[in-house]
Amino acid sequence: MSLFELANIHFGYVGCPPVLNGANLSLQAGERLCITGHNGAGKSTLLRIMVGLLKPNKGSITAFGQLCQQDKDFYSVRQRAGLVFQDADDQLFCPTVAEDIAFGPLNQGKSPAQAMQLVTDLLQQMQLGYLQDRVTHKLSGGEKRLVALASVLAMQPEVLLLDEPTNALDEENEARLVAILQGLPQAMVLVSHDPHFRRKIGNRTLRVVEGQLLESNASCRHAVA
Ligand SMILES: Nc1ncnc2c1ncn2[C@@H]1O[C@H](COP(=O)(O)OP(=O)(O)OP(=O)(O)O)[C@@H](O)[C@H]1O
Ligand SMILES: [Mg+2]
Repeated sequence: MSLFELANIHFGYVGCPPVLNGANLSLQAGERLCITGHNGAGKSTLLRIMVGLLKPNKGSITAFGQLCQQDKDFYSVRQRAGLVFQDADDQLFCPTVAEDIAFGPLNQGKSPAQAMQLVTDLLQQMQLGYLQDRVTHKLSGGEKRLVALASVLAMQPEVLLLDEPTNALDEENEARLVAILQGLPQAMVLVSHDPHFRRKIGNRTLRVVEGQLLESNASCRHAVA
């Protein structure tokens, strides 16, 4: 079973020219699909469409074997497919890092004690324990990005959708992110302008060109580590 099947997706923001114009995408278990394309090509728009934050004008979205047409069809999709936004400020909204990361697990029905344990364990695994009690809005850009990723991983999604995950990361944190992602079993869709990052993580690449997703032979590894 495909995790995602998007067929003939058309989308334009109200009053603006079309962004997607017959885009097709399929994501299988274990795949790490990279998406490239120039600024404004529609990559972030595509990820938002996949989890129902934007509604296509035309086309179909099947996620985890279910055709998703109405808003309610996407509630469970957003539990199972975690989107890390391009801008971490779109993701983080609680006063502290611990609260931000605990928000998803609490929403999924975990007790406060279970959620806090999960936060501590996850931050330790990510070597980010020192950030646990920090005030979120006072973090640096790179720290925010790592916390945003942690807040999505805390929900234990089956699919990760990552929008420019290396943005604002220094070399050390980028290497740490690569190690974290390489160690995860989930299927991923990775939007990234960085060819080195795509090579390290991805095993297939699609390029957004004039609103369509074209197979790209841009270098990408052919096997998952
Ligand atoms: N809320 C919005 N209202 C109107 N137009 C928008 C909106 N969000 C994005 N756009 C436009 O839609 C197009 C696609 O934007 P999108 O953010 O998906 O591009 P992108 O491929 O992610 O670009 P980047 O590489 O810069 O992140 C752009 O022309 C952008 O200006
Ligand atoms: Mg974008």
